[in-house]
Amino acid sequence: MQKQTYLVLFLFFFIGCKKPTQTVLKKESYQGLITKNAMVVSARIEASKIGSTIMKKGGNAFDAMVATELALAVAYPFAGNLGGGGFMVYRKANGEIGSIDYREKAPLASTKNMFLNSNNDIIPEKSTLGAMAIGVPGTIAGVFAVHEKLGSLPIKELLTPVIELAYKGVVVTKKQEERIKFYQPLFRKANKDSIIFDKQWKANDTIKYPALAKTLERILKNGRDEFYKGLTAKLLVKFIQENGGIITEDDLSKYQAVWRTPISFTYDDLKIISMPPPSSGGVCLAQIMKMIEPYELDAYGHNSTKSIQVITEAERRAYADRSYYLGDPDFVKMPIKTLISEAYLNKRMSNFSFEKASLSSDVTHGNIQIIESDETTHYSIVDQFGNAISATTTLNGAYGSKLYCSELGFFLNNEMDDFSSKPGVPNMFGLIGAEANSIAPEKRMLSSMTPTIVEKNNALYMTVGTPGGSTIITSVLQTILNVHEFKMGMQEAVNAPRFHHQWLPDEIRIEPKVFDKLVINQLKKRGYYINEKDSPIIGKVDGILVLKDKSYEGGADKRGDDAAVGF
Ligand code: DON
Repeated sequence: MQKQTYLVLFLFFFIGCKKPTQTVLKKESYQGLITKNAMVVSARIEASKIGSTIMKKGGNAFDAMVATELALAVAYPFAGNLGGGGFMVYRKANGEIGSIDYREKAPLASTKNMFLNSNNDIIPEKSTLGAMAIGVPGTIAGVFAVHEKLGSLPIKELLTPVIELAYKGVVVTKKQEERIKFYQPLFRKANKDSIIFDKQWKANDTIKYPALAKTLERILKNGRDEFYKGLTAKLLVKFIQENGGIITEDDLSKYQAVWRTPISFTYDDLKIISMPPPSSGGVCLAQIMKMIEPYELDAYGHNSTKSIQVITEAERRAYADRSYYLGDPDFVKMPIKTLISEAYLNKRMSNFSFEKASLSSDVTHGNIQIIESDETTHYSIVDQFGNAISATTTLNGAYGSKLYCSELGFFLNNEMDDFSSKPGVPNMFGLIGAEANSIAPEKRMLSSMTPTIVEKNNALYMTVGTPGGSTIITSVLQTILNVHEFKMGMQEAVNAPRFHHQWLPDEIRIEPKVFDKLVINQLKKRGYYINEKDSPIIGKVDGILVLKDKSYEGGADKRGDDAAVGF
């Protein structure tokens, strides 16, 4: 299958709905779950419940994160994982902020041109399907690092309900039934032997995961090193190599999650705290928000022609910079201070006019001299102590590389596709990269994941994030703007129709049949190409908003099976 076909299919099925337009909710006043003390919003109710129960037992948001992340690996194998990676941003009750990067890494034996043939052309599917697509997984390292630094309950209390869930099994939803059925041909293509997901699962069936339960039991007994140095590591490496992959025991034993300083910036009276590279999320979000800050979006109106124009033009310019400048900070020097500075961004927007669309072919990356010294799932958690976390985790594509290790009970990622395999050639999400995001041993591939926390008046205001590949950044952006500029509540902000521009291709993707026809026509007249076909949904946002009376409102995206649970 060609990459572009993957992109369309992936966007169509990343929430797995056959009649997608029916799941896109119109703008409506709708309130999400309200709780006084604590809340988890995630892709599955089973995971949200486990996280919430941990907090009810006295655990904090970080304990709940460990349990929720691993419960998603059981309940939401589409993206929840042990075989992938992610990012988490936190804000403690005392205002301290931080972030952890548990992104996958390129194997030691990887090479810059590993996905090219002798003619220098991309080898179809090599970076997306099967063992060569796998990056060294980071999830177990990530959750154990969080637990060690910030957790409060013993790991046994966090893993036990997850292990119980894996043994007991998880009920198949309608959306999941459709997703599994849709991807079965690729499961068969990627796996030598039949896997649990080859069966014709129907809604309301229960899938049990005893192999995954056993893996988690070993991890509980032996700690994070079980995954990176123990029996699990050995079995995993054997499995990957038998399937033609290059990950070694050395790769696993060298893996470390990394604590990083978040990107933070102001927008009006808000402070936004988001993920730094190797995710492009925070930098891109900062660039877009600083470019649109001078404009009166609230006066233009939500999803009005002028609002869409301003946001689109800022997105166009930010994604052009993303593709040129951003990569793994351990490998490339990035002019981040300049990229998110007002002076640079004002200059970047200086050629924007409401009369006529800019052309992506005229907008390349900005000119900066580098002289500064210096199929995914998201969940949001707040606890009864005032701590907040925002975490996004992924296998990349739906069910990752589709390669499923039956002995260990989990899918392996296809995160290697997030590298730029060949400069100028788009990846699965249509994103184009350059040297900064080329493949090198032990390098982390550039991400769009944008787990974000918002403060207002120095207090926690919002925690938000989403899956959706390249549309993650723009979905997070629109959710924050919906609350701040257009005065929506959290659930309403999540429900609202979304659009997306990513520089190339030069088009505004919109969720179909939910945008005002007049607005679409005005945009077309001003030179914008509107693509209403390829994205039945954009993003699947899960967030929590602090209301005026200090209670929490959850926004669980109805585009999926997402659910808020709290007390
Ligand atoms: O890190 C990234 O940007 C991608 N691997 C995320 C993939 C994703 O969001 C898929 N989910 N729908």
